[in-house]
Amino acid sequence: MKYFNKSVFYFIVNVAILLIVLTKTLFAWSSGPPAYRTGAPGDEGTCSADGCHNSFPPDSGSAKFSISGPSAYTPGKAVKIGVSFSDSGGKLHGFEMTAVDADGNRVGKFKNIGSTTRVISPNDPARGLEKKDKGKYIEHTIKGSKKKSWKVKWTSPASASGTITFYAAGNEADGGGTNSGDYIYTTTLEIAAESSASGQ
Ligand code: HEM
Repeated sequence: MKYFNKSVFYFIVNVAILLIVLTKTLFAWSSGPPAYRTGAPGDEGTCSADGCHNSFPPDSGSAKFSISGPSAYTPGKAVKIGVSFSDSGGKLHGFEMTAVDADGNRVGKFKNIGSTTRVISPNDPARGLEKKDKGKYIEHTIKGSKKKSWKVKWTSPASASGTITFYAAGNEADGGGTNSGDYIYTTTLEIAAESSASGQ
C-alpha cells in the first residue's frame, strides 16, 4: 500500500511537470507573438510594448530589416512576400506581418510556405486574433526563430484595388530566453495594383 501511494504520488508530480513545460512552450511568445503587433494602423503597437521587448528604442539596432515583394499585384492572385534581417548579430529572430489597403482595412490572406512561419489562427487562445482577421496575420514559429529570412504567400481579394501596404515588426533577439536584450525593428512595403502599375 505504502509503495503504491508513493508511485501514484510520483506519477502525479511527473504529469504536473510535463503539463507545465508543455503549457510554457505552447504559450511562449518566442514561439510566435500575440496578434496585432506589426505597427500597422489600428494594431496594438509592436513587440516593444511595455512589459515586452522594450530594452531598447524601436529601430535603434544596427541590423537591416526589410520586406520584399513584386512591384504590383493582380487582384485575386497570390504573390510571394519576403521578410528578412541582414547584418544582424542576433541569436534568434522573429517577425509578424499584416497587409492594409488604402482605406486602412487589413486585407487578403497569408499562407505559410513550410513550417518556419504560421498564419495566426483565431482559435489560438494565446494570440488573441479576432475571427474577422482570420488569415490576415503571419508570424515566425519556434523553428522559424532560428532563421533570419522567411518567404510567405499573400493573396489579394478579387475586389482589391489601389496600393497595399505591408507592415512588419521584427525581433533581433539575443537568445536569452527572455523578453530583454532584444532589438525591435519596424518596416513597410507598398505594392500597387497591376492596372495602375502598368498605367492602363
Ligand atoms: C512581432 C512582435 C514580437 C516578436 C517578433 C517577438 C519575438 C520573440 C522572440 C524571437 C523571442 C525569443 C527571445 C530570446 O530568446 O532572446 C521572444 C521571447 C519573448 N517574448 Fe516576444 N516577440 C514579439 C512580441 C512580444 C510581445 C508583444 C510580448 C509581450 C506581450 C512578448 C513577450 C515575450 C516574452 C515574455 C518572451 C520570453 C519568454 C517566452 O518565450 O515567452 N513578445 N519573442
